[in-house]
Amino acid sequence: MGTKSKAEEWDSFYQSHNVFGKAYPELVEFLKQINPKKSLLDLGAGQGRDAIAAQQLGFEVTAVDISKEGIQQIRANGIRGVVDDIFNYTLDQNYQVILLDAVIHCQPEDQEEEKKLFKAIEEHLHQEGYLLLLTHQWDMREKYLEDLFKKQYPTLRLQFNNYIEHIFTPPQSEEESIMELSFMCFQKHKNQ
Ligand SMILES: C[S@@+](CC[C@H](N)C(=O)[O-])C[C@H]1O[C@@H](n2cnc3c(N)ncnc32)[C@H](O)[C@@H]1O
Repeated sequence: MGTKSKAEEWDSFYQSHNVFGKAYPELVEFLKQINPKKSLLDLGAGQGRDAIAAQQLGFEVTAVDISKEGIQQIRANGIRGVVDDIFNYTLDQNYQVILLDAVIHCQPEDQEEEKKLFKAIEEHLHQEGYLLLLTHQWDMREKYLEDLFKKQYPTLRLQFNNYIEHIFTPPQSEEESIMELSFMCFQKHKNQ
């Protein structure tokens, strides 16, 4: 008793403003060059730093998160927000871009549900649409994901895997942190 659920933990965390800082400039630059801009699904959207940047660029954005607090903050920006578990969420339409920023961990206990989600994503991306996967930089994870997509989701082809350095000051801290990230972009092609 008294143990907070994962959603409640995130709700408390999001009492602080803008916990993860701004959307990465590299992500924003990538989104800018997609034309015309259509629909974007942000899975595990948090407080919406990426969803808001995408909406400002002209995408029609849907944001999903288990945190009610995060989704309320996102809705306050006029974005369609859904409170749900992304691993149980039924994708209700096809999207041009699907974004997973700091949500996929590839730990052995997570891999089965993550694979089901990747399958659903493969089925719900527009032709030539993009899956954007941002994770903490870790060679082994990148290699795992690269091999997994080649084998199990052949229509989603890796276009690039770029290194990003993100400098930010976490809440309740005065010191800057440096986060090293991997930005993987998969594009959907017809399977030949
Ligand atoms: C590290 S934060 C990243 C938030 C956001 N993507 C960003 O980069 O600012 C992880 C987010 O994933 C959400 N999350 C974790 N597991 C989830 C799940 N199973 N379903 C929906 N959201 C989940 C958490 O609530 C949290 O908002």
